[in-house]
Amino acid sequence: MSPQYSLRSLLLVILAAFSANASNWLYLAKLSSVGSISEEETCEKLKGLIQRQVQMCKRNLEVMDSVRRGAQLAIEECQYQFRNRRWNCSTLDTLPVFGKVVTQGTREAAFVYAISSAGVAFAVTRACSSGELEKCGCDGTVHGVSPQGFQWSGCSDNIAYGVAFSQSFVDVRERSKGASSSRALMNLHNNEAGRKAILNNMRVECKCHGVSGSCEVKTCWKAMPPFRKVGNMLKEKFDGATEVEQRKIGSTKVLVPKNSQFKPHTDEDLVYLDSSPDFCDHDLKNGVLGTSGRQCNKTSKAIDGCELMCCGRGFHTDEVEVVERCSCKFHWCCFVKCKQCHRVVEMHTCR
Ligand SMILES: *[C@@H]1O[C@H](CO)[C@@H](O)[C@H](O)[C@H]1NC(C)=O
Ligand SMILES: *[C@@H]1O[C@H](CO)[C@@H](O)[C@H](O)[C@H]1NC(C)=O
Repeated sequence: MSPQYSLRSLLLVILAAFSANASNWLYLAKLSSVGSISEEETCEKLKGLIQRQVQMCKRNLEVMDSVRRGAQLAIEECQYQFRNRRWNCSTLDTLPVFGKVVTQGTREAAFVYAISSAGVAFAVTRACSSGELEKCGCDGTVHGVSPQGFQWSGCSDNIAYGVAFSQSFVDVRERSKGASSSRALMNLHNNEAGRKAILNNMRVECKCHGVSGSCEVKTCWKAMPPFRKVGNMLKEKFDGATEVEQRKIGSTKVLVPKNSQFKPHTDEDLVYLDSSPDFCDHDLKNGVLGTSGRQCNKTSKAIDGCELMCCGRGFHTDEVEVVERCSCKFHWCCFVKCKQCHRVVEMHTCR
């Protein structure tokens, strides 16, 4: 290890230690398996948990692997939704996982908190339905024959359990501080907005039974939307997020839109307190990677276009050869035969 490298690590560790606001439990996503969380003492060793989360971990060992999967789902979805933006949701191998961007009350932080609490609710609910957990199963309260005449299968997604677990595990960081700072209120609001994105979009899925799919008998269950859909909805909320400030109404503190001409945000909207940096330049201290080396689109005028993505620094162009399947023919019966085509495409990269 070079002296420079170790200094950098030390700096990051110190930075991490001071960033008390970060949703540090997301560090669980970096573990390959929490099947390894099979003993209570493992909970003590998990990085990024606060004391009350360690206690929850001990009481809910079997659920912790779902928490880890929820964190991974959230990170993957964040990276998908932000793949064409300057801040691309890349993670660091340090705490906080997303860098300092989320320790400030930015829009990006709002999205990260929402998608993370949604990720935990989603993964825990999934584990309940699939019978992996002793503490929960399907939602048995939805049963019998529906007014529309179909039969409930008795195995609806137990979203109430997943949401309640996410509320206690994810929100505890804010609640333990009394939820009085504007930042705590922001986090709690966005955590809840993330869970609402699942709760308010539950759907009914059905299966037909009967002679050759005649659907004489139909059984249905309530199911969560696919996580991609949750990500799409929260990305829309990110685009329309409301800038807020704290106001005291009576003895309670609330967040209200900074611009009083805007209509108040709803439970499902994302809110933020601080404007974001431009994410243009490499800034280690603030955990910003910068856009140098990012691919951009020469013809797009949007944020993925080279002009905006490269922040006016310019870009260079390489020719790369891509190999594709082409001239595919269907042969009776039943296979498809394709040729391999080589095509040269231009690839643009920010300076
Ligand atoms: C995000 O961008 C950085 C450069 O700014 C790049 O190194 C990284 O691979 C990208 N991450 C993802 C997930 O696309
Ligand atoms: C680049 O942007 C243009 C215009 O928005 C779009 O039509 C095209 O598909 C994009 N190209 C790539 C490789 O994403």
